[in-house]
Amino acid sequence: MTSFPKSTEPVLAVGGLAVHYGGRSALCDVDLAIDRGQIVSLVGPNGAGKSTLLKVLAGMLPPSHGTVDFDGAPLRKPHRRITYVPQRSGVEWSFPVSVLDTVLMGIADRTPRWRRYGRAEERRALDALDQVGMRRFARIQIGELSGGQQQRVFLARALLADGEVFLLDEPFAGVDVPTQELMVGLFDTLRQRNAAIVYATHDLTQAAATSDVTVLLNRRIVAAGPPREVFTEQALRETFGGQVVILTTPAPSPEPVIR
Ligand SMILES: Nc1ncnc2c1ncn2[C@@H]1O[C@H](COP(=O)(O)OP(=O)(O)OP(=O)(O)O)[C@@H](O)[C@H]1O
Ligand SMILES: [Mg+2]
Repeated sequence: MTSFPKSTEPVLAVGGLAVHYGGRSALCDVDLAIDRGQIVSLVGPNGAGKSTLLKVLAGMLPPSHGTVDFDGAPLRKPHRRITYVPQRSGVEWSFPVSVLDTVLMGIADRTPRWRRYGRAEERRALDALDQVGMRRFARIQIGELSGGQQQRVFLARALLADGEVFLLDEPFAGVDVPTQELMVGLFDTLRQRNAAIVYATHDLTQAAATSDVTVLLNRRIVAAGPPREVFTEQALRETFGGQVVILTTPAPSPEPVIR
């Protein structure tokens, strides 16, 4: 697996970012710099713009205003070193494709079109499936898997892609505890490779436990920093609006409670 060089430059940076869908604003005034080896969680209510921000960071959605830079250069389209795993509900599997082929798609743009995947690629894909406990499903169709199993396959694809940045939209949602633990282990592996991970979540406790930086988002950034610092009652109230969010403080690790 590739390790990426230490650098003081952020691997991803957005400045003065705004996104409008038609006339409606989904994000405004977003400034964010993400370093290599950093795990960043995006936290905010439904409709806060988390998925929108991830799509912009993936180069899939052009911002209405502002800049997006990857590795110091403007990002205008998806980049092979940026791996994006969509929110589960966003994936429709109406066409037949095997689990193995899904994983191999992670390296599709590195394989010439005239060539089928070779044995070496297939072995790497099977290894990646092994790492997420899905090797025995390699030959079955992706649409026949449960949501959590599909999520594991996406992770295997992400591993194979050797990405420098991983953008995951609600990877912990609706998956069982072993899958969550697997995910946290993979985050660690990726961090050791000096990759950056940005993920959206609704689980504040998970965010506190599994990120270096938490971004509280509600169309704009309310707070960003180490979770212990950003999970203040005021910032959470500002983020979640009407919902009352109370922190049990002081505590060794923040245990947010939503009433
Ligand atoms: N393709 C789209 N067309 C029009 N509006 C959109 C589109 N995608 C998102 N929006 C709007 O942009 C806003 C932000 O949506 P987004 O999906 O980014 O929120 P989110 O924080 O990911 O929410 P959730 O927690 O429900 O996943 C919402 O008001 C949504 O209605
Ligand atoms: Mg979303």
